Amino acid sequence: MPHSPTRLALFGDLLDFAGEPALDDPSPHGVRYRAAHWLLIEDGRVAGVQAEAPDASWPQQRHAGRLILPGFIDTHVHSAQIDVLGAWGTALLDWLETHTFPAEARMADPAHAAMVSGLFLNGLLATGTTAAMVFPTVHKGSVDALFTAAEARGMRVIAGKVLMDRHAPDALRDDVAGAERDCLDLITRWHGRGRLAYAVTVRFAPTSTPQQLAMAGALCAADPTLYMQTHVAENRDEVRWVRELYPEARSYLDVYARAGLLHRRSVLAHGIWLDADDRAALAASGALIAHSPSSNLFLGSGLFDWRALAAAGAAVTLASDVGGGTSLSMQRTLADAYKMQALRGERLTAWVALHAATRGAARALGLDAEIGSFDAGRLADLCVWDWARGTVAERRHALAAGLHERVFAWLTLADDRNLVSTRVAGVERWRRADTPAAA
Ligand code: GUN
Ligand code: ZN
Repeated sequence: MPHSPTRLALFGDLLDFAGEPALDDPSPHGVRYRAAHWLLIEDGRVAGVQAEAPDASWPQQRHAGRLILPGFIDTHVHSAQIDVLGAWGTALLDWLETHTFPAEARMADPAHAAMVSGLFLNGLLATGTTAAMVFPTVHKGSVDALFTAAEARGMRVIAGKVLMDRHAPDALRDDVAGAERDCLDLITRWHGRGRLAYAVTVRFAPTSTPQQLAMAGALCAADPTLYMQTHVAENRDEVRWVRELYPEARSYLDVYARAGLLHRRSVLAHGIWLDADDRAALAASGALIAHSPSSNLFLGSGLFDWRALAAAGAAVTLASDVGGGTSLSMQRTLADAYKMQALRGERLTAWVALHAATRGAARALGLDAEIGSFDAGRLADLCVWDWARGTVAERRHALAAGLHERVFAWLTLADDRNLVSTRVAGVERWRRADTPAAA
């Protein structure tokens, strides 16, 4: 039987990036804004963008006066930690012991892991995130649960079993040999299956022995298509602890470099307390920092030096880091990133923030042929947003002079109430309750 393509034409104000914006320049360098255009989707992929209405072979959905963006990419978030959102009163090391480890221990139960994974991914879709790099927990079943739920939703998810063989409660500790077996089994079953990829997932240097780090490095060396994810230099007490545990390393980052964990598929969350040599090592390796401003502010970890990393040539992406971060929303994350840079005397543009959460993240992860923009051939992971919701935001929107002011006000004032529809590979996976199916 001949194939009849599934087609859809979406009308709205299309915003994506054709290149990289400059760090503090609000002029629309690299920005592609096509107001009142049609986005053509065929068999789940972007077929093109045009000003004129397509012919009758394209079913139409009109979102006049609405913003259409590529889906957000959250480069660091913990599925099990939706249960500890907004936990009061602690900094990183305390917070892990008091709130986080008990919640993660519950993921040993497969039914609980399945329920939490579904809730978590639905939460991402309901805030406009269509792709994520995720820490489940130490339990193999937590990875199966997450990948199963991601596959059912067609989402691009990168994840792996959390490695931790010391300085953790009994219920969350593995050992080198058992962890290696679990990783190899999970890699065989999930890595490269559909839109899923495996990340060798070292929680952080304090919870792995040098032997476990060496095992993780060997996994990466054996298969360069694997990702690696971990935390680095988030909190001053943590940095001191790493210095005690690994006296032979030049720095916290160097612990990972020496174990073969710093490469172009490495994603390291935070990176607040780095020095110039660390930044140069990041740039040389192609590894990227997943900046997590909401988490850094909430846990009081420190103020991230975006400019220094950019000047060194290292890639910076954005991350919610829930549950250290307080919201799955990348909009809230981007707004927090702006405020954090303001505290450093810097002014982040809407372009840099949005690029880092879309095309920039896709490029840094080696996924720009699949996601992050409306270039033809990309999977149609996208969101439709109201420019403004409510009379106050509507007034601000109407007063905005120029595109940057308008988009920056949107970023600052909008939240998930503005989200109308989320599509993954062209399929609508979330729709606001007050929106008819064919808006
Ligand atoms: N460092 C080690 N584990 C964690 C975690 O779960 N969250 C954050 N923010 N930092 C960490
Ligand atoms: Zn984290």
